[in-house]
Amino acid sequence: MRQHWDKMPYTKRSDGRKMDELRPIRAEVGIVPNADGSALFASGKTVAIAAVYGPKPLHPAHMQKPDRGIIRCEYNMLPFSVGERARPGPSRRSKEISMITSNALSSVVELTRFPGTVIDVQIMILQADAGTRCAGINAAAMALAHAGVVMKEMISSVSIGKIDDKIVTDITKEEEDYSEGEGPTDIPFTMTSRKKDIVHLQLDGNIPVKRFKEAVEASKIACDKILDYQVRALKGEKIDEDKWKWNCL
Ligand code: CDP
Repeated sequence: MRQHWDKMPYTKRSDGRKMDELRPIRAEVGIVPNADGSALFASGKTVAIAAVYGPKPLHPAHMQKPDRGIIRCEYNMLPFSVGERARPGPSRRSKEISMITSNALSSVVELTRFPGTVIDVQIMILQADAGTRCAGINAAAMALAHAGVVMKEMISSVSIGKIDDKIVTDITKEEEDYSEGEGPTDIPFTMTSRKKDIVHLQLDGNIPVKRFKEAVEASKIACDKILDYQVRALKGEKIDEDKWKWNCL
């Protein structure tokens, strides 16, 4: 059993960031010429690209919704995106992430404008260092806007952690694996740009209600910062805060 003198308080982040600091961001649209809309969103070593195709007629026709379109989302990790080869093809995890991404996007896209159609959203994780579902959602929302799909609001996503007793923004895999003190809790949030409605929330770990409220506040601040990157990229800026690492992509 762990004794109190074993506890290692998490006073400094392993990569030297402030508790509320995002990783270096890379954001860009128009990276897949064949797609109707596309985007790259990277946070540190987590890199996601998204490509949007549609709206287009949905086949087989019996799956069409007469009053609205649907979003069909597919999230995948490249085999070389993680240290130990990720098995290609759908898994329970990738199906779950595809579903939560599709739900989050469907809550802001004006689907009633596209009855009988489907919008395909393909998300590929090129490299993973935690927070891939959030990076994927950020890239997908940018790709939809880049495709000119009408949206009520933009959405932005970030993973807030409670590592030991500290609320931290945009956690890495190393932080997710921190096992000292109170251990790790991972809370991915996705929220809308204006109303700050939470359209996706997951909780992996334990957190008291009071600390959870702090996490919500941290997520609002972080999502506002991410929104700024998304909007700047949509205006044509190529954002790369981590040039020396990513000049190959
Ligand atoms: O990536 P995200 O935090 O959204 O999802 P997760 O299921 O909590 O995975 C956390 C991290 O574990 C990923 O970002 C990867 O770095 C790593 N992972 C892995 O190494 N191999 C897998 N098959 C799945 C995840």
